[in-house]
Amino acid sequence: MAFPHRHLLYMADLSPKDITQVLDLSDTFLEISTRPIKKVPTLRGKTVVSLFYEASTRTRASFEIAAKRLSADFVSLSSAASSAMKGETLLDTARNLAAMRPDAIIIRHGAAGAPHFLARRLDCPIINAGDGAHEHPTQALLDALTIREHKGRLDGLTVAVVGDVLHSRVARSNVFALKCLGASIRLVGPPTLLPPELRAWGDTTSDLHEGVRDADVIMMLRLQLERQGKNFFPTVDEYSRYFCLTEGAVAQAKPDVIILHPGPMNRGVEIASDVADGPYSVIMNQVTNGIAVRMAVLYLLVNRPKVKADVEVESRLPQRAPRQLRRRAG
Ligand code: CP
Repeated sequence: MAFPHRHLLYMADLSPKDITQVLDLSDTFLEISTRPIKKVPTLRGKTVVSLFYEASTRTRASFEIAAKRLSADFVSLSSAASSAMKGETLLDTARNLAAMRPDAIIIRHGAAGAPHFLARRLDCPIINAGDGAHEHPTQALLDALTIREHKGRLDGLTVAVVGDVLHSRVARSNVFALKCLGASIRLVGPPTLLPPELRAWGDTTSDLHEGVRDADVIMMLRLQLERQGKNFFPTVDEYSRYFCLTEGAVAQAKPDVIILHPGPMNRGVEIASDVADGPYSVIMNQVTNGIAVRMAVLYLLVNRPKVKADVEVESRLPQRAPRQLRRRAG
């Protein structure tokens, strides 16, 4: 069955059927990573370019490993080692890369909307590897795969999403994906990081114990100090006193609860070390599953020919660069 999308830009674009297609394919790719020779010829002769304007360990490494396990050629660029340092705009950089005829471009950028901006202008699939505080679709897909692996389903589960919800692209993508697959969402954090408009996403509370009570899944978020232009709480110590996931808080959840964290973790700030490394933690499974999900995404997008309907979808994507990009371009 052909995947109905040319790009992977945001989760709200995907239907339950699309998400299930990615997860089912990821299940089949998981097995490849357990073989002595972890490589299949599926994307031999294809070229995948990654362009990271923000730091990354997991996403960048797992896209590269995923592409190489599918036998694609992989070119990795970071803004620090590219001509962006000499003032080249994102669009010029991307146009030059596109002129080298890659079969997909993966982009992480600090400006929300940067991948959409490129999708409208370049003639190859664009994969969003995290755009500002907007979305991180492959993270949501690997989280959904991890939950499904441990719980057998997503429908009917209660997922507590805890922490810096306001600045979290992981939270945004996960809320779309998990609700789409039938889970109920509870958002937990300080009132300043849970503005009223987020109530449309799920129930909200600023009481950690209440928020995780009887939860099937606890999804911790990293406290994103680098994205906060002002003080949303008095001190990091005070934040951790109320919102650090400790064994005491975990005891409020269901006995078979699983705990996720996208990484990188601030140990002792949003999650206690004994919880991060404890029996309910599936954090390393998330990392393993990230490779299978990215193999599935690359397989579905790189092998898919462009069709007429894609042109109409692309014409509806943003015309103008996000403000942050226009400032840099100027
Ligand atoms: N989860 C995640 O996006 O981690 P990195 O920033 O290390 O890629």
